[in-house]
Amino acid sequence: MNPAFKNSVSSESKTINQLGAEKDSIVVQAIRVRSGKALVNYSYMLINRRTSEAVVIDPAWEISKIRAVLKARNCKLTAILLTHHHRDHTDLASELASETGALVYMSSMEIDTYSFTAKNLSEIRDSHVVSAGMRINVIETPGHTAGSVCFSVGGYLFTGDTLFIEGCGICKGKGASADQLFESLRLIQSTFPGSTQIFPGHRFREAPGKSLDYVKANNIYMKVNSRSDFKTLHMRKRDISSIEYL
Ligand SMILES: [Fe+2]
Repeated sequence: MNPAFKNSVSSESKTINQLGAEKDSIVVQAIRVRSGKALVNYSYMLINRRTSEAVVIDPAWEISKIRAVLKARNCKLTAILLTHHHRDHTDLASELASETGALVYMSSMEIDTYSFTAKNLSEIRDSHVVSAGMRINVIETPGHTAGSVCFSVGGYLFTGDTLFIEGCGICKGKGASADQLFESLRLIQSTFPGSTQIFPGHRFREAPGKSLDYVKANNIYMKVNSRSDFKTLHMRKRDISSIEYL
């Protein structure tokens, strides 16, 4: 387990099955949430201990777990950041916005392409969002969907369904593009230091928070150098019914 990850699993959070990381005044709390069936997602809370404010990335399925983190950390939610429009990443956005007054951020491409709506919805118009005393960088990473983005703050990168520790998101349906996903994965590789900790929206084997160096060395989709090889690999027939979300 990554040492930073281990250090931040505090006693108050153990009961809600969370993992996280910590640097300076920013704490990342991973929140494992389940749809009630087999689907499991990871929502992430970024907590600024200095201001007692927080933002949440891709809140879904279990609002009680989100509320529990806010209560345990005694902080106010100021923003809800959405990597893309799929329901398993956005399910709680409106409810949390109503409850807290937080703004909901999504890329304008994603909103326009899929006619996404939510309470307090705010188009991302810049390369960053400022909230909870944090500057959160927005990286356009289309491919899984037309307007997918990743968010980075400090040495953390939140990748939604663009990049998993063990793989990458599927490209199926309106706006999806394996060509664009290939370019997005290359952009991540060339933009961020190898020590960057990767926090994806799903987990299949490895725990979130592995370094980009680790992902580059172990994720086959990050090792393919040509676009055509990537497309062949990515678009091959797979039995997705056997996928197990951890
Ligand atoms: Fe997705």
